[in-house]
Amino acid sequence: MVIPGAVDVHVHLRHPGGSHKETPETGTAAALAGGVVAILAMPNTLPPLATPADLRASLDQIATRIRCDVGAYYGATDTNADMIAEQNAIACGLKIYLNDTYGPLRLETLAAAAQHFSAWPASRPLVVHAEGLMTAAAIGLAAAHRRPVHIAHVSRREEIELIAAAKEAGLPVTCEVTPHHLWLTHADGIALGGYGEVRPALASAADRDALWSHLNVVDCIATDHAPHSREEKEDVSPPPGMPGLETSLPLLFTAVADGRLTADRAVELLSTTPARLFRIPTPAHSEVRLELGGPWSVPDSGFQTRADWSPFAGMAVRARVVSTTLRGQSHGMARKSSLRREPGTF
Ligand code: DOR
Ligand code: ZN
Repeated sequence: MVIPGAVDVHVHLRHPGGSHKETPETGTAAALAGGVVAILAMPNTLPPLATPADLRASLDQIATRIRCDVGAYYGATDTNADMIAEQNAIACGLKIYLNDTYGPLRLETLAAAAQHFSAWPASRPLVVHAEGLMTAAAIGLAAAHRRPVHIAHVSRREEIELIAAAKEAGLPVTCEVTPHHLWLTHADGIALGGYGEVRPALASAADRDALWSHLNVVDCIATDHAPHSREEKEDVSPPPGMPGLETSLPLLFTAVADGRLTADRAVELLSTTPARLFRIPTPAHSEVRLELGGPWSVPDSGFQTRADWSPFAGMAVRARVVSTTLRGQSHGMARKSSLRREPGTF
């Protein structure tokens, strides 16, 4: 099957300051290996990308190192609303953290959040990490400021139900879900130990099922690819996050093979809608070749991501990426590994 390249609006590329977890080279190689041609990089880096000077410097530093298209978000702080709104054009959007997660970026007050919702141009993407009651806060701020908001990694039944109701009421809200929240539950998280730590936390089977039953409300599949090293994940206090760039398409097209959604809908969720919402120009002469069949088993190493592990290791998939073409250049899967034919080697 040939499909358009995927657009992943939620990726942690870890530049600057996290090169032991991921580099611009390894992160974008992972994207291409997973059939992703454009990624939007999150700002919870070291230092966080919260000023025009830091964001511009980071983009300049990675320019010659990246292998697919990359945009980068500003991170909202309690004091930077006006400064970044003035220089909004260099960012792909603004990310606001309303809950705790990896790194120091988190808004502490309603006043600070309101400043950003007011200052950031309504025509530019505004993405929030907003779990539970914060989902309601984010939707309320968007409604009050008459501007769109995009809710990142929706994970729970009550959140997706609220977003469904908000959309029904005509409010300007869009959302994404991750493959790990669609495929894994709290019970899997316990079995995975530190590797299962992620924010939002893996939820209940009922939450996971609600995401599937509200798939019509979901705008994008985004991976929240959040690489951390094995050493860190095996530590007593593992950082939250899991890699996902190389497993998203195989999982989604396995769901297509299982009749859980159509191939057209998968392409909408992975490519067309994120490109439209985030105004990402579709690169010419680009496509992804998928092989359907298998089953293949997701390997536990051999990935392009520097983290080189997967929370989905051992899962059977019925699709794999054969090659990704970006602007006429084909990136075949002569890579360290591929999804393994079951049983044994590939
Ligand atoms: O699990 C997570 N990890 N959730 C986030 O929101 C951040 C991410 C990271 O940066 O590692
Ligand atoms: Zn994230």
